[in-house]
Amino acid sequence: MAFSLIIFLLFCCCGNVQLTEAQQLVQGLSWTFYDSSCPRLESIVRNRLKKVFQDDIGQAAGLLRLHFHDCFVQGCDGSVLLDGSASGPGEQAAPPNLSLRAQAFRIINDLRRRVHRRCGRVVSCADITAISARDAVFLSGGPDYDVPLGRKDGLNFATINETLANLPPPSSNTGELLTALAAKNFDATDIVALSGGHTIGLGHCTSFTDRLYPTQDPTMDKTFANNLKAVCPVANSTNTTGLFTSDQDLYTDRRTRSIVTSFAINQTLFYEKFVIGMIKMSQLSVLTGTQGEIRANCSVRNSDNLSLSSVVEEEKGSWSAF
Ligand code: HEM
Repeated sequence: MAFSLIIFLLFCCCGNVQLTEAQQLVQGLSWTFYDSSCPRLESIVRNRLKKVFQDDIGQAAGLLRLHFHDCFVQGCDGSVLLDGSASGPGEQAAPPNLSLRAQAFRIINDLRRRVHRRCGRVVSCADITAISARDAVFLSGGPDYDVPLGRKDGLNFATINETLANLPPPSSNTGELLTALAAKNFDATDIVALSGGHTIGLGHCTSFTDRLYPTQDPTMDKTFANNLKAVCPVANSTNTTGLFTSDQDLYTDRRTRSIVTSFAINQTLFYEKFVIGMIKMSQLSVLTGTQGEIRANCSVRNSDNLSLSSVVEEEKGSWSAF
């Protein structure tokens, strides 16, 4: 599947995708949520991320994946951002989250610091993560789109087992993906479109060497397989590159092949469906209104942040590391 395997091949066109299907909002979210409480929110985030990505465009991939891992486990509630606590290890300790980029967590907290300095503690970490994922897509050459806002941050994180149960492994075939994602109300088009998130970023060899060793996946192009073997000479190589069974099988399986092909020949269609999928994903089990809280530090829930007011004071006067 050409569009999913290319490392850092940037989305090559832009334009604000206008959608009606995706404009269906869950209760409590809105397109204008911070218009009066933090009108500069989106420009603060975008301007900062432009600088971050100029230094390292790889961080765009890290932020996009972070939002996906946040939303799929317990909803888009910023729970993946929480460090573990006395009650046990957090979601970050679950195997699929071990390869999230450490820098992505730091970028979110830096953005939160900048936004809260300007507007006060009114914007949630979950919303900052959703806006960052959108900007990651747009600033790497993909479509621009509006993100519904108004999420609150969760008070709890999921267990390691819950995290594992909600993030499909890269060895999944199409049947497994269809079943797993139908439970979250995604259809085949959403799944193919969202897998297009793999247009940017990288994977560690261990995420796909089961396709090379001990026997080579017969659906894999031979030249491509040889190139991958050069990057990953043994099954447990620590190098990085791309292409997972979960992506390849969307092309192999007759239920999704025509969707893959339709996106491959029509980028406008791919962008439109990708944006619909992203907006849908960004609304999974969100906390709104009086639910949850707005964290003063994205890594710690407020009740664990013993000297909350002094931390906020301290941060007002400090310059971030970014
Ligand atoms: C459909 C099921 C999915 C599976 C099985 C899957 C699996 C994976 C795996 C195994 C990696 C590489 C991890 C590593 O080895 O470092 C990865 C990377 C990535 N995934 Fe997915 N993913 C899925 C869906 C998504 C979705 C929905 C998005 C976003 C829309 C996404 C965005 C990314 C990005 C951007 C990267 C690169 C991260 C980086 O370079 O740091 N993935 N994915």
